[in-house]
Amino acid sequence: MTTLLRIDSSLRMNDSYSRLMGDYFEERWKTKHADGKIITRDVTLQPTPHLTQETVNGFFDETLHSEQLELSDLLIEELHASDEILINCPMYNYGIPSSLKAYFDLVVRTKKTFAYDATGIRGLLLDKKASIISVMGILQPATQEKNPLETQITRILNQLGVIEIGYFPMDGMIDPEEASLKMEQQRNHINQYFNHQEYAAHTTSH
Ligand SMILES: Cc1cc2nc3c(=O)[nH]c(=O)nc-3n(C[C@H](O)[C@H](O)[C@H](O)COP(=O)(O)O)c2cc1C
Repeated sequence: MTTLLRIDSSLRMNDSYSRLMGDYFEERWKTKHADGKIITRDVTLQPTPHLTQETVNGFFDETLHSEQLELSDLLIEELHASDEILINCPMYNYGIPSSLKAYFDLVVRTKKTFAYDATGIRGLLLDKKASIISVMGILQPATQEKNPLETQITRILNQLGVIEIGYFPMDGMIDPEEASLKMEQQRNHINQYFNHQEYAAHTTSH
């Protein structure tokens, strides 16, 4: 069975562009995977607490136990159980929401999601692909290859071993006309993504 892990991080439960586009992506995904499973992780509704020193100690010492380490284990299990990861992310004060950062701080974990030795860092989440829906109120410079949200999330995913990533950015959303244009563009982009032969070729089934 193919599994999608959907992560939402907008504070808005209604009229959130990242959630609406995430819904669209999810609908398209379901048509491709009629018997697929979807795991939802909403870091607004189920906030992840900030990383503590005690938890970092626990990352390196398996004899330590705490509620936060149990949550970290659970979040990591969700990642390992998924074939695809969808991250729906608004820009808050020039970066990803602090709730999403707190989530990443619990899942970027040595021996569980990445390993390192003298040759460097090696991700342990293999054969997975990801999609990032990023939403910004202000227009971003057209010259940049990736916006700041995509850059940060990509670095983290790459460290965990996720290399194949689809990008669905929407900027200038403060202007309703621009917003409807960007929504239309990204719906088309998502359609193309799912119609593309490479999508099928890289989707694993268990
Ligand atoms: C607290 C807060 C901070 C924001 N900071 C930025 C920002 O730095 N840059 C930007 O382009 N938009 C910023 N915005 C606008 C949001 O990115 C925009 O409203 C986006 O649509 C939010 O995502 P959503 O529609 O999924 O809720 C901010 C919005 C809020 C609520």
